[in-house]
Amino acid sequence: MTGERVLVAYGTQNGATAGIAEEIAATLTKDGLSAEVRSAADVDDLSPYDAVVLGGGLYAGRWQRDARRFTRRLKSPLREVPVWCFSSGPLDATAGQKEVPPTRAVRREMSRVGARGHTTFGGRLDPDPQGRLARSMAKRGMAHDWRDFDQIRSWAHTIAADLLKE
Ligand SMILES: Cc1cc2nc3c(=O)[nH]c(=O)nc-3n(C[C@H](O)[C@H](O)[C@H](O)COP(=O)(O)O)c2cc1C
Repeated sequence: MTGERVLVAYGTQNGATAGIAEEIAATLTKDGLSAEVRSAADVDDLSPYDAVVLGGGLYAGRWQRDARRFTRRLKSPLREVPVWCFSSGPLDATAGQKEVPPTRAVRREMSRVGARGHTTFGGRLDPDPQGRLARSMAKRGMAHDWRDFDQIRSWAHTIAADLLKE
């Protein structure tokens, strides 16, 4: 159905996941849906939305805290709408080469809300990131942007196609 209102919510520490969420929302909008991007921490009410895309940056195999809290706080309304999830993680080429399955912790978040699907996108480590561990990783030369925006747009098109045929 055209005009379905989709929330694209994200949990981020250093902004990479927010950038992916923006691209997903822009793609859904181009495909004829009405998409809104918000930090997962800022959303208390899902009544304006017909569907949700939720993404989290991966830290030690778990989503960043705002994304985890989102599934707990809004578990009941999330179970009433179609939900898709994504993780932003690997700091190498793997996410572009094969489908990286959700971690065990992310699978738990997905089953809590009855998510329909999941994908993993490459991550980005900022040269000057928040967090002691992140800074030491950046100092060791790991700062790089592994996000593939073609892959992100392709995944968003599949969600739009699913919603538009309902
Ligand atoms: C301390 C630390 C731990 C990380 N742990 C993982 C991990 O377990 N799995 C993974 O795929 N990526 C991991 N990453 C990479 C991040 O998930 C990646 O940088 C992500 O894009 C960050 O998203 P954000 O900028 O939205 O916070 C880790 C990065 C840092 C700095």
